[in-house]
Amino acid sequence: MDKFIIKGGRRLMGEVTISGAKNAVVAIIPAVILADSPCVLENIPEISDVSISLRILYEMGAKVENLGGGTYRIDATGIKEPVVPYELARHMRASYYFLGTLLGKFGRARVAMPGGCYLGDRPIDQHLKAFSCLGAECSLENGMVDIHADMLTGAQIYFDKITVGGTINAILAAVRAVGMTVIENAAKEPHIVDLANFLNSMGANIMGAGTDVIKIRGVRSLKGTNYAIIPDQIEAGTYMVAAAATRGNVLVKNVIPKHLESITAKLLKIGVNVEEFDESVRISVDGPLVKTSIKTMPHPGFPTDMQPQFSTLLCLAEGTSIVTEDIFNNRFRYVDELRRMGADISVEGRVAVIEGVGRLMGAPVTAPDLRAGAALVIAGLAATGITEIDDIYHIERGYENIEQKLRALGADIERRSVPGTTARKRPVQA
Ligand code: EPZ
Repeated sequence: MDKFIIKGGRRLMGEVTISGAKNAVVAIIPAVILADSPCVLENIPEISDVSISLRILYEMGAKVENLGGGTYRIDATGIKEPVVPYELARHMRASYYFLGTLLGKFGRARVAMPGGCYLGDRPIDQHLKAFSCLGAECSLENGMVDIHADMLTGAQIYFDKITVGGTINAILAAVRAVGMTVIENAAKEPHIVDLANFLNSMGANIMGAGTDVIKIRGVRSLKGTNYAIIPDQIEAGTYMVAAAATRGNVLVKNVIPKHLESITAKLLKIGVNVEEFDESVRISVDGPLVKTSIKTMPHPGFPTDMQPQFSTLLCLAEGTSIVTEDIFNNRFRYVDELRRMGADISVEGRVAVIEGVGRLMGAPVTAPDLRAGAALVIAGLAATGITEIDDIYHIERGYENIEQKLRALGADIERRSVPGTTARKRPVQA
């Protein structure tokens, strides 16, 4: 298993280019199954969640061609069996998007229940509610979610809780249902808009993605298309925070500034300079960073996927900051690791109280999940001394070439294999 070795205390300087959005691509790759001819997808990031998604398609009978430069040609017309077994599905929570797409295409699906609960409870009751509204029978046996419908009929779906995954699965199942589906209390994340744009380019009829009411008029068939994935707003936010934490000066390129609004607002609030351009933002810091309070919310609120990274930055701000994690009930597992680096954080339920400390000190730490791992990289970059980060396979799920991108910004980071260990392929979340 590999680890990162970071020698901290160097300012990040220069330019970094953001890759395609993980949470868009893990929904769009399964959605290719809905097409009756091949699709070409561009700006696909080289991350392990993508490799797992493509492998699932391949094992199910799709033809997957890597055309190079982040472009893939996928012909899923060869898929006949709508089943995703545990040994494939367990590696990635987003494998549950195969439920919606296989139901939408074949009228039935058997997919292993997503594993683990690294961020706390992660039920899928709202996904199943959406499928039932459309006329499907859902059951759970031997860890497999089994759904089938004689006919999928457009319906009114009201989500009891705003859910990104539930909204995506409802869209995937409804695009070929007979009649109109109206999804209310829908999630509004940029990757939901990207999925809707992708499906509409295949001939779907989806209106209102990005608002809390999404209307879908079912169509009989969808054709293959060429599509480029949007840039990853969480990867962008992570580099913005890393630049601020090292008091550097970084131009973050290939972004959609509107997708970064809540992150930019909070950075400005604590004293970070953020200059916005059409497709990039520049981060720099002149004076001291000051405290703030943050509450994670569904988009366009402050994203939960930026909470660990921003909390790390607040360790270096003057004063007492309050961070409330309102989406997941166990997303502070990185705090123990930060404490080893000198952070002064106390956690009570969903609230972390962060006392700003002058600096962090390098230490051996372990990444508990994807975004917590990114937070520990930021801590290591800002800390004095050496930080070793174990279990970096979590980080590789969502950050393309992270060590190369950081080295290009002047960071002293290297990857080292730990002899005699193999990656613990535990079921992972996200
Ligand atoms: C997606 O997870 C993302 N994952 C997560 O990103 C992200 O943190 C999350 O959305 C929120 O933005 C992918 O897109 C692959 P939810 P998802 O359904 O869909 C509860 C990362 O770091 N809920 O919006 O699982 C749930 O327990 C990952 O990239 C139900 O109660 O999130 C949570 O408290 C981490 N019943 C809340 O809703 C359901 O049926 C939001 O979950 C579904 C969800």
